[in-house]
Amino acid sequence: MVTSSAPGKVYLFGEHAVVYGEPAVPCAIGLRAQAAVERRTGGLRVRAGDLSLDGFAVEYNGGTSTPEVDVPENLLDAAMGYVNGAIDQAREAARTRGVAAEERSFEVTVDSNIPLGAGLGSSAAVVVATIDAAARELGVQLPREELADRAYRVEHTVQDGGASRADTFCATMGGAVRIEGDDCETLATPDLPLVVGYDGGAGDTGELVAQVRGLRETHPFVADTVSAVGDLVRRGERALAADDRETLGELMDINHGLLSSLGVSARSLDAMVWAARDGGAHGAKLTGAGGGGCIVALGDPAELERALSYAPACDDAFHAQLDTDGLRREDE
Ligand code: PMV
Repeated sequence: MVTSSAPGKVYLFGEHAVVYGEPAVPCAIGLRAQAAVERRTGGLRVRAGDLSLDGFAVEYNGGTSTPEVDVPENLLDAAMGYVNGAIDQAREAARTRGVAAEERSFEVTVDSNIPLGAGLGSSAAVVVATIDAAARELGVQLPREELADRAYRVEHTVQDGGASRADTFCATMGGAVRIEGDDCETLATPDLPLVVGYDGGAGDTGELVAQVRGLRETHPFVADTVSAVGDLVRRGERALAADDRETLGELMDINHGLLSSLGVSARSLDAMVWAARDGGAHGAKLTGAGGGGCIVALGDPAELERALSYAPACDDAFHAQLDTDGLRREDE
């Protein structure tokens, strides 16, 4: 059995606009998804110990699944789509290296402390960890660039083409990264004091991306908002390099306002953003697709955790430390 893990992330800037080719800067944090993969006979079996769902086990052959578990169907379908896609990518990676992988079946056990669909990149972390572990179970060590690219292809398919390379590249490489279209690079970043506020809910990334696309089609001027986010990210990169926290916070606030105008914030996310600002944050914004889930705030961790814990909208608040490892091969 081999085990790999990969981190979740927050977006310092640029979610949604990144789907239209603008730059974005996500940053890996110390929450992880772990995939343990083992060969078996008779189809793929997936077990999930803790996916912020009740534990579930699904077994299926040839990609058709009829799980009987008590979890919302869309979350389960998405989770299974990601794991299934990851296994296909590992098999293809093996095949291109001359390893016959088609007949190989696996048991995949996923354990994750990244809340699902909450803007912290849970699916990317699961996909990266699963591809890597399954490929290694087949005897193939994938270079990180190829792993990130294969993980992106899975997200792109499951999210109906509405995915950027941001989450998957960040989960693979760790640290802060910069994504612009197909260009991905790692950034030298100070260990910023970041706090995450979580409302206990989730948003549907595919649906929210489609919603922004619809808004852009109905109101062509919305494209200006998207490019304003791009300008903001370019300015943010300079502030990051200079460790200029005042400017970073100001830009996070503006980014939240622009995301809100794209219709992807929520009452709970706005409430947590304001609680963090009232608690002395340099700035705060929603992170990820929005609709519900998490915000990220920059400032004194103890003060912000306290401020957020008093906010009725906030279910959990924690100091999100920078993760510099990215993919980890736990058994090596
Ligand atoms: O909520 P998450 O962690 O799935 O992030 C989605 C980020 C988007 O920019 C909205 C989509 C993408 O793939 O970049």
